[in-house]
Amino acid sequence: ASDMLVDKFGRMHNYLRISLTERCNLRCQYCMPDEGVELTPSPQLLSQDEIIRLASIFVGAGVDKIRLTGGEPTIRKDIDDICLRLSSLMGLKKLAITTNGLTLAKRLPRLKECGLNLVNISLDTLVPAKFEFMTRRKGHERVMDSIDAAIQLGYNPVKVNCVIMRGINDDEICDFVELTREKPINVRFIEFMPFDGNVWNVKKLVPYAEMMDRVLQKYRGVRRLKDHPTDTAKNFMVDGHLGTISFITSMTEHFCSGCNRLRLLADGNFKVCLFGPSEVSLRDPLRSGVDDSGMREIIGCAVKRKKAAHAGMFDLAKTTNRPMIHIGG
Ligand code: GTP
Ligand code: 5AD
Ligand code: SF4
Repeated sequence: ASDMLVDKFGRMHNYLRISLTERCNLRCQYCMPDEGVELTPSPQLLSQDEIIRLASIFVGAGVDKIRLTGGEPTIRKDIDDICLRLSSLMGLKKLAITTNGLTLAKRLPRLKECGLNLVNISLDTLVPAKFEFMTRRKGHERVMDSIDAAIQLGYNPVKVNCVIMRGINDDEICDFVELTREKPINVRFIEFMPFDGNVWNVKKLVPYAEMMDRVLQKYRGVRRLKDHPTDTAKNFMVDGHLGTISFITSMTEHFCSGCNRLRLLADGNFKVCLFGPSEVSLRDPLRSGVDDSGMREIIGCAVKRKKAAHAGMFDLAKTTNRPMIHIGG
């Protein structure tokens, strides 16, 4: 590994999140506005070959984990081939996906053959009617089926991402904990974060401390597990449960000091922080013929500009960023 991926604060970035598309088959309220978002014209999106070329530069410099995001990554027609080519890059240890699970059950056997080894599925409610309200589409049962399919195929743990919003699904926290009793899943409660177009406000945020209180009121024997310094989640086990629960506390206790994540967006822009508005295009130099060492220079400069931590939540709510659907989380 070179120092291309090490920033001014000594953080090594070995985890690259690649957004495969800006499109989605759901319309989650916390992710995008009702009217949708403007889509980048397709010639300006990265082609499969461009994704692989960039990924191989990153992996060559020390990235050992790639997560495919979107939009909804499974919408991309060539996702199988992309997985196959990424998973054969020398040095890559983990190929992951974050998906809404709508069509995952049928795709996952093939994706697994293509080298996909970690699966995170978004699910914010156990109530079908509420699913329709939150995602503005139908599909609750299909997501539940995908979670089971992932378990069946041996993914362990299958992570279930649950964004909690006050007045919408905060009454279901303990129902989700209950789900971990018999299912070997890791349910992750996520603090609602502000992005363009998602009408964030502090009243809708349920802080980690409050979510935890609700769990502790009902459950005894909740124990903190040791977590990895680069983990986004604080992990817990509940006595007698097959699965585990976690909290992703971006708003009340950010975890920037252990950040190891970089992002490549579908349009080829490179983002060194989820909340950092600064982006550099990797697509443009790539298309104008810059060689690998030139690309490494551009990437390295951007990494060196990464800040120690993102702004506090009220400042974040005021800064412009992209809508979440473009960033992929
Ligand atoms: P694992 O690799 O399984 O740990 O997943 P992950 O947490 O890295 O990724 P996932 O796509 O499952 O995202 C879960 C939640 O964490 C989403 O709400 C993301 O927006 C959030 N998240 C991921 N990376 C970052 C980050 O760098 N900073 C912050 N604040 N949140 C992040
Ligand atoms: N706040 C927190 N998490 C979010 N996600 C999408 N939008 C938000 C938001 N505003 C989550 C999705 C998905 C992951 C990529 O990011 O639920 O699991
Ligand atoms: Fe689609 Fe995921 Fe955004 Fe929901 S959160 S609209 S599933 S990209």
